[in-house]
Parts: sequence; structure tokens; C-alpha cells
Amino acid sequence: MARRPLVVGNWKMNGTRTSSQKLLADILAGLPDGCATDIGVCPPAIFIPEASAAVTGKLIRLGAQNVADQDQGAFTGEISASMLREFGCSLAIVGHSERRAIYGETDALVAARYAKAIAHGVTPILCVGETLEEREANATFAVIDRQLGAVLDLCGVESLQDAVIAYEPVWAIGTGRTASKEQAQEVHAYIRAQIAARNADVAAKVQILYGGSVKPDNAAELFGQPDVDGGLIGGASLDAQSFLAICLAA
Ligand code: PGA
Repeated sequence: MARRPLVVGNWKMNGTRTSSQKLLADILAGLPDGCATDIGVCPPAIFIPEASAAVTGKLIRLGAQNVADQDQGAFTGEISASMLREFGCSLAIVGHSERRAIYGETDALVAARYAKAIAHGVTPILCVGETLEEREANATFAVIDRQLGAVLDLCGVESLQDAVIAYEPVWAIGTGRTASKEQAQEVHAYIRAQIAARNADVAAKVQILYGGSVKPDNAAELFGQPDVDGGLIGGASLDAQSFLAICLAA
């Protein structure tokens, strides 16, 4: 089954108000008509309102870099899925390895964030992936099972009809060290097989993105793998021409 490719830029905590406006304007200006790839950008949250105005009526989806595990109330520093919806966000990254490693987000918290995104019609991009130590200890699949399992246990496999998965090996993020196309395909196929064991139809349809040092010169071979449906792009998404080249590769 043909899955539509998706490429999402994760700007992380980079840029200024002015540079973010310019980056988005340059991406919008460079998008080819009738682009067959779905494209999204996830700016820092404070830039979302302006970005929302800029993308209105355009073929680019807006996303957040995280979403609250609660609906509202005394949760200082959090932004709810309904607030994101109000500003036109249709995507939200959950469980990025930086959130897991630096801010201590657990599988249970990530699953709760995912659940709130689903409940409010925001498509979660669930990030999973192993560290270098875990890969070297042959624990890659066990880590994927644990991270994916937390979400499937809480929300059920059918929730993946409204979600996207991103396989991001932690050792490849921001390091310039990309997974080989064979390494990426192996884990993507594994993820899809785990989903297929629960629901073959959902597995055939769910988009599984690759993330970790995707650049214009390696995007095509990664995206050419049968189970790689696009990418979640960090560093290279901060340059409009690089990001557009990656979108075209998909
Ligand atoms: P990178 O980041 O492309 O800079 O490696 C990817 C990500 O963290 O999503």
C-alpha cells in the first residue's frame, strides 16, 4: 500500500522571532506546486501564533515540539493539545529523545502526552529509538518494544490510525552520524511488524519517519527504503534550501 511521504522539520530551541519568520517564508516560497510530500514544521512554541498566520491556506502543516499530558489546570510550563489546536497545530512531537534524556520524560508520561494529542485531534509524532549503548548491547528491539508498548497499552493499536511514528536512533541525532539505509529499514520493518501483529491494516497505513542527521545528500536513499515514509529533520530543517531539498527527496 502506498503511504504518502511526510517530512517534518523540528526547529528545536533555535532562532529568533525574525529568523523564524524568514525561515518559514523561505520554505513557503520554495515549495513546488503540487508537491507530493506532506510537509510540516515545528517551531519553538512561542513562535507558533505567527507561524500559524503565515501557513493559513498554505500546504504546510504546523506542529508543536511537545504537548501536555493534561487538559488544563495547574501544570506550569505546559501547553495543552486544545491550545495547540486553537493555533492551527495539527501535529505534536512526543517522546523526543531530548525530552526523554534531558528532561527525564518516562514512557508513561510520553504515552499520556500521546493520548491527549489523539483525544484533541492533534496528530502525535511518537519518537522512539535506542542509544548507542543500547544498540551495542543488542537491545534496540527491546527499547522499541518498551517505548511503543507503553503507547499501545494505554491507547490501543487503533490509535495509530491518527498518529505518526518517528524512529530516531539517539546516536544519530545531531551527530552527523546517520543510520545506514539498511539499519533504518531493519528497525522500521521491525516496528511495522510489531504493529502488524496487533492490526495488519493499521500497520500497512501508519507512516514511520526516520530521524537523525538526515541531510539533502542522504535523504533519498533513506526515504527509498520500503518502510521509511519520510523524515523528522532537526539541524537541516533550519536552512530553507536544505529542508526543501529533503522534502523533494521524499
Ligand atoms: P537532527 O535531529 O536531524 O539534527 O539529527 C533530528 C531530530 O532530533 O529530530
